[in-house]
Amino acid sequence: MKISVRVPATSANIGPGFDTMGIAFPLYNTVTIEETVMPGSGVIIELVSDYNYKDKALLEQVPRDNTSIVYKAVELLYNSIGQTPGELKITINSKIPMTRGLGSSSSVIVGALIAANELLGKPADESALLSIATELEGHPDNVAPAILGGAVFSSVQPDGSVVYRKLPWPKDWKLTACVPDFELSTNIARSVLPKDVPMSDAIFNTQRFGMFIYSVYTHDSKLMKLALDDKLHQPYRMHLIPGLSEIMGLLRYEDDVLGCVISGAGSTILLITENDGREKAKSVVKSVWNDHNIKADLYDFDVENEGAKIIV
Ligand code: HSE
Repeated sequence: MKISVRVPATSANIGPGFDTMGIAFPLYNTVTIEETVMPGSGVIIELVSDYNYKDKALLEQVPRDNTSIVYKAVELLYNSIGQTPGELKITINSKIPMTRGLGSSSSVIVGALIAANELLGKPADESALLSIATELEGHPDNVAPAILGGAVFSSVQPDGSVVYRKLPWPKDWKLTACVPDFELSTNIARSVLPKDVPMSDAIFNTQRFGMFIYSVYTHDSKLMKLALDDKLHQPYRMHLIPGLSEIMGLLRYEDDVLGCVISGAGSTILLITENDGREKAKSVVKSVWNDHNIKADLYDFDVENEGAKIIV
């Protein structure tokens, strides 16, 4: 038996929603798991990438043994029903740029879990899969939209379960992922964050996340522009993305530009615009990064409302 699962890329945080908010977009990794008939071969992991510039070298460094997150995902699922994985071949077809804040690792965790779950006759439901994926990833903001599609907020409860809801992202709020040619590992981007934050910063984010949710429901662009700010992670990560503070400064007062935020842990910058704002914002990013000798791919996208999907 062979199962392939296609999983969308995701952009997490979206300003004030650190470790909480995420949005899916139409760029996909595919994870295929097949049972092999070679006794003793264990779990074989293969990676294929269509994404080229620096990622070929990155691909070489991805573990293919039992330290791989894909292996761990499959093992956790098997263990949850008292089994261990037998002879399996796992193939990852990677189209999502790696270590750029686009949910590449979440996508393979989710893909492996859903494929293994299907092979095992679906012992886990959606929320159980989400809890396992969150345990592996450490936070739910990428894995939730990767499973569900759309714009999703999620919250980890004290018992490890995840509460999540999809929000009605307005169609005319356009998204652009500006993906630079340099990597930024989530471990490094999390290591620069403080263990504690001032109460005033926690209040700042709570206020803005309230505005964020309300503005999505009421399609209030003015309110969203005020909401897309953050004091929990962006100020600490700003120096890891050359030109970012300049880009944010230049875009802050532009009409039709609702915001410019770090996508996940970076290095991608996510632009949220309406009407004529998109081209204006993109030219600012291109020009500032050009001054810093940073090459980038800019992807315009609509929210992918479909989450992970079994395709074979
Ligand atoms: N919320 C996470 C972070 C997403 O910003 O560190 C990255 O995986």
